[in-house]
Amino acid sequence: MPVDLQRVLDAVLDGVLVVDREGRVEHVNAEACRILETSPEAIGGEPIEGVLGPDHAMAKLARAALSSGRTALASDQAVERRHEVKLVVDVAASATFDERGTPDGVVLALRDRTIQHSLQRVVTERERLAAFGRIAAGIAHEVKNPLGGIRGAAELLELRATDSQTRESARLIVREVDRIATLVDDLMVFARGEKLQLAPVNLHRLLDDVLDLLAHDPLSASARVERHFDPSLPELLADPDRLVQVFLNLARNALQALEAKGGTLLIRTRVSVDHRLLTEDGARVPEVLVEFEDTGPGIPADVLENVSTPFFTTRARGTGLGLALSKHWVARHGGVLRVESVPGKGTTVRVSLPLRRTE
Ligand SMILES: Nc1ncnc2c1ncn2[C@@H]1O[C@H](COP(=O)(O)OP(=O)(O)O)[C@@H](O)[C@H]1O
Ligand SMILES: [Mg+2]
Repeated sequence: MPVDLQRVLDAVLDGVLVVDREGRVEHVNAEACRILETSPEAIGGEPIEGVLGPDHAMAKLARAALSSGRTALASDQAVERRHEVKLVVDVAASATFDERGTPDGVVLALRDRTIQHSLQRVVTERERLAAFGRIAAGIAHEVKNPLGGIRGAAELLELRATDSQTRESARLIVREVDRIATLVDDLMVFARGEKLQLAPVNLHRLLDDVLDLLAHDPLSASARVERHFDPSLPELLADPDRLVQVFLNLARNALQALEAKGGTLLIRTRVSVDHRLLTEDGARVPEVLVEFEDTGPGIPADVLENVSTPFFTTRARGTGLGLALSKHWVARHGGVLRVESVPGKGTTVRVSLPLRRTE
């Protein structure tokens, strides 16, 4: 191949993979190598099925274009990564033809859409939460008002009761009303969309406080808690009370996951300058990552889809608001909360916050 063609291909921003009439990789440009985590030496001459596996849409598209001579397209194809979250790629396969008009190869164009894809997910999620907030507000107001009346009446009943059974029933009403009131208060948080009280925050001190608080909780008995804090982490501008709420929820979830069999909760912090978060005022800022990684039982895929939905819980006494609220507050900071899990291995909840400098 002439050097110039390789230079041209490498300058193309999309990934380009040229396949011959046997379906073997002939040329591959730099972007395709990045997407596929490979090199021209590793896949040159290899059948296209060998690159991503025979069942991958990319190989099937190439074969379809080769046999039909038509262009084949597939959007949002997942490409697994060795160490990172998988990429989302749009693929177009167009045939090339010999002088008799028979397909003699395929050009695959790969466009990495991972960033747009995750931004779209964030936007959809925010809209979903906003819609939920409006419904929650309506319900919360309707429920909150009569609760006071019920509680007052039950207390009166308790005072006037002449037998212990009635008194105990009245106490039960008061207790349960208080439980509903707590739930309604949690709900109102979505509804009010309260303003953040931003202040300079030393994240490590804040995390230490959260963990000290939990150290006295019987929940912590069977778990080992480790901290891997990045010492270069600067102070950031955030709402400390909200962050305490978020991290308490995440740590508590992890400890609950470890309760039965024990294990480790690892809390890791780091600054990432590669990935920049877009803040509400349109500025691009580096992100601070706070990860809660536990070695608990993990979350099956069908459950994982729902864990951040308000009221979704698999626990008998759970409210299902922990992750939904945490996600809400992280989003209000302009950040993103992601849950990843490998069933049988554990769960990682990754909070990324924009590094708004305090000065
Ligand atoms: N670290 C974790 N390990 C395993 N499952 C988890 C973890 N964190 C959350 N979950 C799952 O997500 C669900 C929702 O969590 P959450 O919103 O905090 O509500 P709750 O804790 O009240 O159930 C939990 O019921 C549980 O099934
Ligand atoms: Mg919880």
